[in-house]
Amino acid sequence: MNSKESIGVFDSGIGGLNVVYSLKKILPNEKIIYFGDTKNLPYGNKPPIKIKEFSTKISQFFINKNCKLIVLACNTASALAYDSIKKQFNTQCLLINIIDPVVSYVSKFDKKKITVIGTKNTIHSDTYRKKIIKLNNSIKIRSYSTPELVTIIENGFFSNSIDKITLNKSLNEIQNIDYDYLLLGCTHYPLIENKIKLLINKKIKIINSNKIISKYIHNKLFENRLLNNKIKKHIIEIFYSKHDESFINSAKFFFGNNIKLTKHEI
Ligand code: DGL
Repeated sequence: MNSKESIGVFDSGIGGLNVVYSLKKILPNEKIIYFGDTKNLPYGNKPPIKIKEFSTKISQFFINKNCKLIVLACNTASALAYDSIKKQFNTQCLLINIIDPVVSYVSKFDKKKITVIGTKNTIHSDTYRKKIIKLNNSIKIRSYSTPELVTIIENGFFSNSIDKITLNKSLNEIQNIDYDYLLLGCTHYPLIENKIKLLINKKIKIINSNKIISKYIHNKLFENRLLNNKIKKHIIEIFYSKHDESFINSAKFFFGNNIKLTKHEI
């Protein structure tokens, strides 16, 4: 492993682009390769074995590109495939799932009530609740799956045409319960954080994990002496497994011309 190598980041679609956006702010010198698995989107309701298979193929793709660090910028893959990815690639590069940094951040919220929303797979796995109460059992966790959100975000984020009826229906259950924090347990959800905010009680604080994850990545690279200190502007290499106009437009929306887009099937 060498500090000049890239960081590989993946998600099923556009959610992880937001993670990269925040990562670039804190680590402008790093070379980043992104993989959006648009062919297999959504991950949230596919069998766990499939999520492991997709995650393994994408991680192998990053290993072939000599990445020094791989980020599973997808809560579903982090919940279902991280252990398997760790077993396979741990000796070849650093690996980060995006659930653990958030768990360690919120575990300091003594006696608070947290509602977690995420995909069917993430919520079914119960990963957030199990990990949080293991660190602090004074915290009360309630989890709800909001499976339609990923599709309306993929379809409507770029054109600013989020389907309001589906959004409202998806959040219906969490509108009339009492809690202190809403944890966005899917990397797609921060893309519509402002719209979600309008539908929940004003006193509830939203936990958007992007900043927490970026700081965690910075620290991990620092501890391992793998921070790239060479000041140089790098183009972000973005790969996607199926042509999707909305994905491409969203990538341009985040990074302008500072990207190289390539279709690559895994
Ligand atoms: N953005 C992903 C997550 O954080 C995956 C969503 C999906 O593909 O269903 O869970």
